[in-house]
Amino acid sequence: MTTVNGGRILVVGGYGAVGATVSQALSQWFPGRVLVGGRDGDRARQLGGVRVDVTDPAAFRQSLDELKDVVAVVMCVEPPDAGVARVCFERGVHLVDIGATLRLLDDVAALHEVAAGTGATGVLSVGVAPGLTNLLARWAHEAVGGAERIDLTVLLGAGEAHGADAVRWTVENLARSARGTALRVPMPGYGVRTAHPFPFSDQHTLPRTLEVGQVTTRLCLDSAPMTTALFAARRPARHPAVRRALTASFRHIHLGGDGFAVRADAHRGPHHAAYALTGQKQSRVTALVAAYATRELLTASLPTGVHHIEQLPALSQLPEQLAEHGVALHQLGSA
Ligand SMILES: NC(=O)c1ccc[n+]([C@@H]2O[C@H](COP(=O)([O-])OP(=O)(O)OC[C@H]3O[C@@H](n4cnc5c(N)ncnc54)[C@H](OP(=O)(O)O)[C@@H]3O)[C@@H](O)[C@H]2O)c1
Repeated sequence: MTTVNGGRILVVGGYGAVGATVSQALSQWFPGRVLVGGRDGDRARQLGGVRVDVTDPAAFRQSLDELKDVVAVVMCVEPPDAGVARVCFERGVHLVDIGATLRLLDDVAALHEVAAGTGATGVLSVGVAPGLTNLLARWAHEAVGGAERIDLTVLLGAGEAHGADAVRWTVENLARSARGTALRVPMPGYGVRTAHPFPFSDQHTLPRTLEVGQVTTRLCLDSAPMTTALFAARRPARHPAVRRALTASFRHIHLGGDGFAVRADAHRGPHHAAYALTGQKQSRVTALVAAYATRELLTASLPTGVHHIEQLPALSQLPEQLAEHGVALHQLGSA
C-alpha cells in the first residue's frame, strides 16, 4: 500500500473490544506502523505498544513527543474531555474518534480551526451508531430530496460480549433523557421491534450537517424481553447503585445473539426512503469503520479540519464496502 503520510498510527484502547480489531485491520494495511496504547503498560508493551492515558493530556503530549513519528491517532476509548484531541491537532496529528457522546464530539468539532491550521484532519461519528447511522441517514435524506424528518433505529445483540467502556456508556446514557416516543420498527431479519429513544449523538449532529429539522435515534436489543427490562430500568438507573448492577449484569448475562441492525428512515411529505444494514458483532464493525476511515485519511486527501463522517464524500460508500465483511445492505423504502 502506498501512503501519502509515512509514520505510525497510535490506536488508543488498542487492546479493547473495538481497538483490537482496529489494530489488526490497520496492521494488515500498514505493516509495522501500528502501535497500541492503553493504561496497562505491560500489556501494551507485550503488543509492541506504549502506555498512554487519555485522562492526562500533558502526559499524552509527552508520549507523542517521545514517539516522534505518530501521524494519526485512532481513539477507541472515551476521554473525559477534548484535551487529547487538542494535543493531536496542535501537533498536526490526524484523529479518528469512535466516541458517541455529544458533548465530547462538539468539543472536538470546536477544534476545527486548530486542526485546519496544522494540516490535521479529525473524523468524528465513526462506528455503527454514530457512524453507519449517519451515512445511511445521508443516503435516505438525499433519496427523498431533503428530509423533513429522519428516524434512526439501532438494534444491538444482547448476547455480544460488548467492551467494558461500551457497556459503561450505554448504562450511563440509559439514565439520561432522550426526546421522542417509542416506535414499532420493522428490522430486517428481526421482525417488527419496539425501539425506544436513546441519546446517541447522531440525532443531534445530523440536524446541523444535513440541515434536517427532526432526527430521533431509537434503540432496541435483539431480545425483546431484554429490551423491555432495559427500558423499565431507565428511571431506576438514575441511581449509581442501579447503574453498577446493570453494568455487571450486562457484562455477565448474554440472553441473545451477537447480531446488530441499523436503519434510517427519511420522510418528506408523502416521500419515504429507508436503508438498513445487518451484520454480526457491532464492536467488530465499529472497528472496521474506524480502520477504513483511517486508511482513507492516510492514503487519500481528506479535507483538513474536523468533520463528521457523513460530511466526507470519500467515505460515503462505506456501507457497501462492508459487504465483504458480511454486512448486508437493505433498501427498504423508495422515494
Ligand atoms: N461509534 C460506535 O458505534 C461505537 C460502538 C462501540 C463502542 N463505541 C465506543 O468505543 C469505546 C470503546 O468501546 P470498547 O467496547 O472497545 O471498550 P473496551 O473493550 O472497554 O476498550 C477500552 C480500551 O481503552 C483502554 N482505556 C480505558 N481507559 C483508558 C484511558 N484513560 N487511557 C487510555 N486507554 C484507556 C482500555 O484498556 P485499559 O483499561 O488497560 O487502559 C481498553 O483497551 C467506548 O467509549 C464506546 O462507547 C462506539
